[in-house]
Amino acid sequence: MSAQENKTGLPLVHLGITRPEELSALFADLRGRFNADCACALDESSWKQFRDTWLGRKSGVLAQITDNWLKPATPELKRAVGQQLNELRAHVESQIESRRAAIETGTEETARDRVDLSLPGVIRPVGSRHLVRQVFQEIEDIFFSIGFSVVDGPEIETPYYNFEALNIPEFHPVRDDMDTFYLDLPKGAPTLLLLRTHTSPMQIRTMEKQKPPVRVIVPGKVYRRDNPDATHSFAFHQIEGLAVDTDITFCDFTGTIEYFVKQFFGPSVKTRFRPSYFPFTEPSVEFDVSCPFCAGTGTAASGGTCSKCKGAAWIELFGAGMVDPAVYGFVNYDPKKVSGFAFGIGIDRLAMLKYGIDDIQVFFQNDVRFLRQFP
Ligand code: FA5
Repeated sequence: MSAQENKTGLPLVHLGITRPEELSALFADLRGRFNADCACALDESSWKQFRDTWLGRKSGVLAQITDNWLKPATPELKRAVGQQLNELRAHVESQIESRRAAIETGTEETARDRVDLSLPGVIRPVGSRHLVRQVFQEIEDIFFSIGFSVVDGPEIETPYYNFEALNIPEFHPVRDDMDTFYLDLPKGAPTLLLLRTHTSPMQIRTMEKQKPPVRVIVPGKVYRRDNPDATHSFAFHQIEGLAVDTDITFCDFTGTIEYFVKQFFGPSVKTRFRPSYFPFTEPSVEFDVSCPFCAGTGTAASGGTCSKCKGAAWIELFGAGMVDPAVYGFVNYDPKKVSGFAFGIGIDRLAMLKYGIDDIQVFFQNDVRFLRQFP
């Protein structure tokens, strides 16, 4: 900083200062300049230059104040200049010393470390929802439109909700298919806990909380000890559906399911029910759609057998059925007064079918080359 810039090269009268109270602004300005200089002293050589600028014996700013302001000051000003100079000196000396210490111990950020606020920011591209999440949303929208609401349930369940209240007692062979992950609990824990194997426990939890009419869907993650392959994962997604009221018939059931499937796959898809078995529905069905890849012909466009339906022309979509009256006994519903239906859709496989994906594993690998195809 030059003496000119500092005004310290000129006597006070030349600066038009004649009264003590006019000194404060002058010294405040100097202190501001000193602080700015101090912030720029980031290494030893710039610190030395900074120190000499302010404390240099002959031409340092403080020496100039002494020579040009203090010594020739009028008696009226002298005392005030001396006092303000002392205060400034104390500040300058202590700051110069602490800046030196900071540079020596390396705690001061270097010019390289300093954030350059003038650099353009990092542009983070906006992501999109995972395809499975998008399919959940599509399905939820369809069921919303016909009066269903969405409920959520725990992924860690008790055997009671996952099995027993769904009419699957401990000895039931169907449990073998759902052998799953149990939590390692401390000895004496009041109940076993497991990662739910399906979203069906939410049928029970919903009916326990709510009297009929019930119309809910339950999207969520489920777990099974299945070995991974193109259509199996140990963690996958389901949507449970449950409708219970005083007058629900098998026709309501098939009509609802068909409406959903045609909304989801398009009106040209054909549907069929096959008899099946679930302990918590009676009668139970598997629901198939005509293969969307070969338009239900079983023959691929190339002329060979369709690899997706393996020539069957149909693809199995999900299990469903009328709620077994035994289940109502677990939730204090009167099976003589109410009836209803339930279904459990495997979302990953449904998404694979709709979007022509031939390996379920890509849903879990998080490869952006795959994910970007579904913005
Ligand atoms: C059930 O889970 C029953 N809770 C469904 C149900 C609900 C029936 C309500 C009746 C009434 P299932 O085990 O078939 O059923 O599984 C349902 C769907 O989950 C299957 O159709 C399939 O799409 C999907 N799924 C099953 N296991 C796997 C797996 N390891 N990986 C990916 N998807 C799977």
